Amino acid sequence: MLTQNGSDLFFAPIAGYSDSGLRSLCFRYGAGLCFTEMVSAKGLYYKNENTASLLYVAPDESNTAVQLFGSEPEIFAEVVRYPVLSKFSHIDVNMGCPVRKITSNNEGSALLRNPELIYKIVKAVKDSSGKTVSVKMRTGIDGKSCVTECALAAQEGGVDLVTVHGRTKEQLYGGKCDFETIAHVKQTLRVPVCGNGDVTDRDSYLRMKETGVDYVMIARGALGKPYVFSEILGKEYTYERNEAILFHIGRLCEYLSENTVMNVMKKQIACYLHGSRGAKQLKEQAFSAHSLKELTTLFDIKNN
Ligand SMILES: Cc1cc2nc3c(=O)[nH]c(=O)nc-3n(C[C@H](O)[C@H](O)[C@H](O)COP(=O)(O)O)c2cc1C
Repeated sequence: MLTQNGSDLFFAPIAGYSDSGLRSLCFRYGAGLCFTEMVSAKGLYYKNENTASLLYVAPDESNTAVQLFGSEPEIFAEVVRYPVLSKFSHIDVNMGCPVRKITSNNEGSALLRNPELIYKIVKAVKDSSGKTVSVKMRTGIDGKSCVTECALAAQEGGVDLVTVHGRTKEQLYGGKCDFETIAHVKQTLRVPVCGNGDVTDRDSYLRMKETGVDYVMIARGALGKPYVFSEILGKEYTYERNEAILFHIGRLCEYLSENTVMNVMKKQIACYLHGSRGAKQLKEQAFSAHSLKELTTLFDIKNN
């Protein structure tokens, strides 16, 4: 079992969103494993300053994995031994990012063109780190799926878990999730498989479980809704939106500058407010706040 609390639900790596604050809330409501957003292996190697804040993990995060992206086995082998990664017992490698800036460097979903390189990267990360290693893949690049071959290469390299997002690179985040291919990967592999794509509630979770996957990963369905894990697990819970927002702000203040907290939180707040009464006005006020004090006052429980 890759989770300590018995939960088969993961909170996904989401660039700009999977920060320590949201991860802690996801754990609170029942996620079994959370991921950092993708972090550049080269950025770590060349000591890029921006990568440090992505690696912040709070003591109440029970089981957080770091996700790395890159394409060079030698660089992966080197960076996974860095002390800055010692707090992570689990390393995930991104093999799904469709963004051109990433794929043009042969990183992210571009790796799906090269099963041999997948094997080498996984082997390098596993041998060098000795940690739990997973990969997160899309079903393919374009029309036809190649994920099974890629997943087998990762398994050969020693991977402990394969996550499959049921879309090709070309599909980006639209179109339908391909459950058949996810089921095929599950039937083919020896190692556990996690299914990802369009899970937002218990019904969509059960649909994903029909593929036979061992774990289910949720991304967009948890933005502004960390309690989605309790809903799916059928666990009783209490949720107070403003408390969650203030908790989230407080956590980010532990490791980010006021300006960065404001920028990150405005996006997160838009998710927290989505669909709620009076959201439009409150969102406008939040977006025009000039200081953190002004922003927090909007959500201060005493004022509401
Ligand atoms: C804004 C955004 C950023 C993302 N960043 C990452 C990332 O850093 N690493 C990754 O593996 N996937 C990333 N993803 C993909 C998600 O983890 C997930 O695979 C995808 O959204 C499908 O799951 P969902 O239908 O539950 O949202 C990102 C998705 C979105 C929408």
